[in-house]
Amino acid sequence: MAQHAQPRGHEKIETSNFLMIVLILVTVAIGGIVEIVPLFFQKSTTQPVEGLRPYTALQLAGRDVYIREGCYNCHSQMVRPFRAETLRYGQFSLAGEYVYDHPFQWGSKRTGPDLHRVGGRYSDEWHRVHLMNPRDLVPESNMPAYPWLATATVDPASMASRMNALRRLGVPYTEEEVAKAADDVRGKTEMDAVIAYLQVLGTAFK
Ligand code: HEC
Repeated sequence: MAQHAQPRGHEKIETSNFLMIVLILVTVAIGGIVEIVPLFFQKSTTQPVEGLRPYTALQLAGRDVYIREGCYNCHSQMVRPFRAETLRYGQFSLAGEYVYDHPFQWGSKRTGPDLHRVGGRYSDEWHRVHLMNPRDLVPESNMPAYPWLATATVDPASMASRMNALRRLGVPYTEEEVAKAADDVRGKTEMDAVIAYLQVLGTAFK
């Protein structure tokens, strides 16, 4: 029988599960660090774009309804830098536009269109009719209707704590904004709130 030579060089790695796994992990980790770490120090990813404002109390309430209703299951909020996307949606999204979004709503599932540049595209009334029953405006739509948003009201008492939570994450709300948050949303429906949120999306970038 032929003698088995001791594995040497690269063969040593390829014939050992343990070495193979550990070294792959080390290699991938280095690659990851090289790609990710600079993002924490680049202005274009950490600084808000000029004109970006934290959500008003009403917009913030709307964002929370958007999350609660799972709109992100069908809608992304990130226009990618490809021609087919910019032709359809407009200017591609910039990292600096999401600095105050906690959590961001990028997503990747697009049963419906991307919504990052939907702000200002339609009237408030259009959104109201659409959310009550999408098929009244887009007959072939398979988006669910959200009629209960028109009757549910936003809870004013909860706004200050929602804004304070975001403040801890670095969103620059002033004491004054937090103090008048309750009054800003008093009497507003969740429908008003979602529409206010949709109308501000992607509008910071000029
Ligand atoms: C089951 C998937 C689905 C869910 C969930 C969903 N949508 Fe949609 N949405 C669609 C589809 C499909 C369209 C395209 C047809 C239409 O306009 O109705 C659409 C269109 C839209 C549009 C118009 C976009 C444009 O550029 O014309 C808006 C605004 C919108 N949805 C908002 C919402 C909001 C807000 C929610 C959550 C309350 C939501 N959607 C939940 C599927 C969905």
